[in-house]
Amino acid sequence: MDRRSFLGAASTAATLPFLFSAVGAGAEAVAPKPLFANNPRLTPFRGFAGQDVACDNVAVEGKIPAALRGVFYRNGPGLFERGGQRYQHWFDGDGLLNAWRFTDKGVSHQAKFIRTEKFVAESEAGEFLMPSFGTAIKAKRPVKNSDSANTANTNVVRLGDRLLAMWEGGSAYDLDPQTLATRGVVTWKPELKAMPFSAHPKVEADGTLWNFGSAGFGKIVLYHLSAAGEMLRYHLLDSPPSAMVHDFAVSQKHIIFLLAPVTMDRDALKAGGSFGESLRWNGKESVKVLVVEKADFTKQVVMEMPAFMVFHFGNAWEINNMIRVDFVKSDSLDIMREYMPRLMRGESVAAAASNACFMKIDLSRRQCSMETRSESVEFPRIDPRFVAQRNRMVFYPSYVGHDPSSRFNSVLRVDTETGKTDRYTFGDDVQLEEHIVVPKPDSLKEGVGWLIGVGFDQARQQTFTTVFDALNLSAGPVAIARLPYWMPLCFHGNFYAA
Ligand SMILES: [Fe+2]
Repeated sequence: MDRRSFLGAASTAATLPFLFSAVGAGAEAVAPKPLFANNPRLTPFRGFAGQDVACDNVAVEGKIPAALRGVFYRNGPGLFERGGQRYQHWFDGDGLLNAWRFTDKGVSHQAKFIRTEKFVAESEAGEFLMPSFGTAIKAKRPVKNSDSANTANTNVVRLGDRLLAMWEGGSAYDLDPQTLATRGVVTWKPELKAMPFSAHPKVEADGTLWNFGSAGFGKIVLYHLSAAGEMLRYHLLDSPPSAMVHDFAVSQKHIIFLLAPVTMDRDALKAGGSFGESLRWNGKESVKVLVVEKADFTKQVVMEMPAFMVFHFGNAWEINNMIRVDFVKSDSLDIMREYMPRLMRGESVAAAASNACFMKIDLSRRQCSMETRSESVEFPRIDPRFVAQRNRMVFYPSYVGHDPSSRFNSVLRVDTETGKTDRYTFGDDVQLEEHIVVPKPDSLKEGVGWLIGVGFDQARQQTFTTVFDALNLSAGPVAIARLPYWMPLCFHGNFYAA
């Protein structure tokens, strides 16, 4: 596709469907006062007022391993209120970048709001000015493109000399890896300006990065970048439509999407509903399993499965024309549509189930099958050296217990070949975020390393980070570093060795 036709075809993608709500009625949404005072578990959902924080000397219990040196970056929504107005969805908050640094001097923590165009303008105005994913706010400034509402709040990846803070509806933001200062929006090519660049890129062992951007109307942009951050290839793909494509997977030779039956109710948007409020779940329709060849983006296969929802993938790999994909499955959009808005109102509410799922895609017969495990999990991660390669370990925050309104009080490792598990449970006072694998520098064996992650301790009202031996979770953390304050919960992050 030449540049001119690419621009024509991509124009929808660069103006993000959810910004259409900016021209709708745009109800002035003022949420009821949240009941956080009665629910200390939900303190992180209060958010910050825009302040940056730092702690040079985080109190450490146990011993940080001598070989664990580097920076653990995390990103998540950190600001939910301005001018008496409160966001109604967790996804809406402005990006707050966290850096936990492990050095010979100990552990430090720094968190800085990403100075997006939106954050800067709204800080000056003292009110929300832009539409957001889940809250119907009428635009009070001109919406130029997707990046006008970009919160950069979902994930963070280092690529070359850039620290990329990513959303999914627009461009990545480039930050200074040391100071976390915002350098600005990344435009890979002029014709890709403000195009969606998802928050779930896949970085292979050689450092090359695959990513996609979803326009929600049967158009997906595929990206392949070098380890230095140069755009090697991009392509605008015609795909089966799905209005919510959050993550994907790559195997040795293929790119895999599971396109859930989610549509956009345009009438609801025109009536002033937010993007999130206007999504519709069509449970009688199928999931489209889209497999694209890495070597030739124009070659694709589409298969179908009965309806389910997927947000996050662990990994994919293939052997003899059989692709294995692992992901976390739920039955519908309820987690996003019902659970999260109620959390944001300060309500204790039981989350819909989300479970580890393992799919086989037989490319020869064009058939798919899958098995679902019973554990309640989300945020799957694998040893980063095995992205797009054969792996057998997946790590999750998980829940065990009987309190339906509690989530993720334990860490879990699943052996995908034997089905065996390894788990450590903190108890219901703790709410865990995604945990990631940091390989030991002197080993190439899968899982030899540490599992590190962040949690919120509701009894202490503090945020902490823990270090586990990734192959012996049940032994408990080898170190816990506790902040003297709490932080808003993050979505995703990555560790970079010093
Ligand atoms: Fe995500």
